[in-house]
Amino acid sequence: MVDLMGLDRAASIDDLRHLAKRRIPRFAFDLVDGGAESERNLRRNSEAFEEVELTPRYMVDVSKIDTRATIFGQTFDQPFGMAPIGMLNAFWPEADLTLARLCKRENIPYVASSAASTTLERLAEAADGNGWFQLYVSGDAAVTEGLIARAEAAGYPMMMVTADVPAAGKRDRDIRNQLSVPFRITPEVLVQLLANPTWTLASLQHGKPNIANYADLLKAATSYADVQKTLITPGFTWDHLMRLRDRWQGPLVVKGILHPDDAVRCAEIGCDGIVVSNHGGRQVAFGPPTITALPPIAAAVGGRMKVIIDSGIRRGADLMRAKALGADFAFVGRALAYGVGAGGAKGADRAMEILKLELLRALGQLGAPSFGAVGPSDLAGASSPA
Ligand SMILES: Cc1cc2nc3c(=O)[nH]c(=O)nc-3n(C[C@H](O)[C@H](O)[C@H](O)COP(=O)(O)O)c2cc1C
Repeated sequence: MVDLMGLDRAASIDDLRHLAKRRIPRFAFDLVDGGAESERNLRRNSEAFEEVELTPRYMVDVSKIDTRATIFGQTFDQPFGMAPIGMLNAFWPEADLTLARLCKRENIPYVASSAASTTLERLAEAADGNGWFQLYVSGDAAVTEGLIARAEAAGYPMMMVTADVPAAGKRDRDIRNQLSVPFRITPEVLVQLLANPTWTLASLQHGKPNIANYADLLKAATSYADVQKTLITPGFTWDHLMRLRDRWQGPLVVKGILHPDDAVRCAEIGCDGIVVSNHGGRQVAFGPPTITALPPIAAAVGGRMKVIIDSGIRRGADLMRAKALGADFAFVGRALAYGVGAGGAKGADRAMEILKLELLRALGQLGAPSFGAVGPSDLAGASSPA
């Protein structure tokens, strides 16, 4: 078949990002692509991964490479999953379901965001056993409890509570694009819609995306501040987390940890894991990249719980870098989202293929017959263990 979308020629996740940029109106592209303020954190996330050097070892039999990883009792085919992304259907129609199905097919975890544009029930069905649920703690305890009860009823085994949004991130691109609630079609938006007919027609066909889990509650929202108040609370504290620990029967993971002391406290409360994350550089511009924050956290936790990482992963080799520095597992957000933006389900498949093949090749080049075999001794400059 003729590759009209250019997917076969996309050599990297960055190439898919460029393809997505070409066919999505700027306001919708920026919504996903953008970061906080100067976007320093967004840029540094990926740059800092690039700076981690591993030393290849040769004459190791790598004719068979095992990329599987086991976490919370489930073995996945790859050591990464899809991070929770809110309102992703604004980027490309049906993006949520496309990615949930992909994760099932590829046997990797899919994290359904509280703020997804598809209900958590439909996403649980699509991810079919591979779904985890991400919770935002609302200022209204009844809203939070309602979501937890629904997640339980939908059969999610895992809950990931996001800690790193005490206030909404200030994303300058969204301000410049004049994104508003309810969404308004400004003359600039109209020009962008006309210039991107594939996106516009597909979006018209699927209807305006909303934050599906809160659709009724948000009907009356007239500002972004109203939406924020329903979704998250600046009053989320360790007391809340302890209550969530008591409330949720299954494994509980805290997402958005950057300080070793916070990580240790999560372990002491009885959490099963943390995600070292800066929300993909969307919250602050002044924080550390996650791959830099990871080593002291992994050392402080000392194997008491699972240490997961996200933010800035764009290459298969980044997964090895994270493992060498102490991560058990990883999530990607934009890497797979760019795929959907570049070419719907086919684009998502291409993004997955790129990450998988890059990881496989990188493990072979490193001399690691399995992902599990990668460790601190692979870091450049590390002396080999006695
Ligand atoms: C558009 C967008 C929306 C997001 N929405 C959520 C969300 O609803 N809940 C959450 O915990 N994290 C959310 N995140 C953060 C991701 O889960 C993840 O931490 C981040 O995308 C990882 O960085 P990466 O995109 O560089 O891989 C969002 C990220 C993006 C890009």
